[in-house]
Amino acid sequence: MKKILVTGGTGFIGSHTVVELQQHGYEVVIVDNLSNSTIDVLDNIAKITGIMPAFEQFDLADAALTADFLKRNSDISGIIHFAAFKAVGESMEKPLNYYRNNLQSLINLLEGMKTNGISNMVFSSSCTVYGQPDELPVTEQAPIKQAWSSYGNTKQMCEEILRFTTLAHPIHAIALRYFNPIGAHETALIGELPLGVPNNLVPFITQTAIGKRGCLSVFGDDYKTPDGTAIRDYIHVVDIAKAHVVAVERMLNGKSKLDLEIFNLGTGTGFSVLDVINAFERVTGEKLNYKIVPRRPGDIEMVWADTRFANEELGWKAEKNIDDMMLSAWKWEKALAEKQSS
Ligand code: UD1
Repeated sequence: MKKILVTGGTGFIGSHTVVELQQHGYEVVIVDNLSNSTIDVLDNIAKITGIMPAFEQFDLADAALTADFLKRNSDISGIIHFAAFKAVGESMEKPLNYYRNNLQSLINLLEGMKTNGISNMVFSSSCTVYGQPDELPVTEQAPIKQAWSSYGNTKQMCEEILRFTTLAHPIHAIALRYFNPIGAHETALIGELPLGVPNNLVPFITQTAIGKRGCLSVFGDDYKTPDGTAIRDYIHVVDIAKAHVVAVERMLNGKSKLDLEIFNLGTGTGFSVLDVINAFERVTGEKLNYKIVPRRPGDIEMVWADTRFANEELGWKAEKNIDDMMLSAWKWEKALAEKQSS
């Protein structure tokens, strides 16, 4: 059985990926410092798959701990590296925390891969590396523009670190540029668990509908889009998780064509904020309380993916639609509320 290290495996995308890996016959070991997740995610993964993943809690930005872990686990076939800070707003207040955490953890892992002969990494990147693209849909060849946040800049820098490190050493990497991952597992046992007030749209929608928040603020209706609200490419987290299994298999089967390959993970369709609200109301039957407020600083107007390269070369395609995304996110929010009231 091939063993895969999943860093950040108790987080939102990480936990869904652990489930998919286990269901495809991989042995998983998770490293997470639980800075933005909780330990009971492990039990919920085990409830879905019947297998408790191995787990170690430490900070990958600690070079000595990471080196020691990889020495003890040099039999792993690959690493999927999710563990990172990801709040855009916070990254503007504490940029050094973002650079330290996101860059050092990657460097420490690559150092350990080099030392222990581990040759495959899948890296969590983001469509944020494109900024506001000049042409839509955006392809992987689009120019990388100046970052709009230090968070986005860490993703750009991590891709560059991977580019030069995979050139110099026998390491292969695949960077997956996620568009907007939302939704939750169909069992409602795992999902997105924002600490405090959510920054992202869909957790804010579901928390408003369930009564945890009074009113959703729609940030801006004066964009140059059909209804004036900003457009994103929302993608179901389970589709994202499945792409990681495909990427791991591509590397393990020696199918990578470059030392560093980069793929967009989106559906290829853009939805405005109002489209998402309407879809949520339609599929759940809930009425959402929302108001239009000024634009949020740092937001781009619109982005959606050109998915042809991922579809044709990686051999992966998003299967779930906006209704699946809204229904599963709502089921998860309701399951959370039940758990908290019991
Ligand atoms: C951002 C990042 C993305 C990152 C993600 C993780 C950019 C361009 N994108 O996505 O790379 O991976 O965060 O956290 O930096 N909205 C509202 N009201 C709300 C919340 C959001 O109207 O209460 C709107 C936003 O203005 C935006 C859309 O909903 O138009 C989606 O916002 P959000 O879910 O925060 O994701 P992004 O900002 O697109």
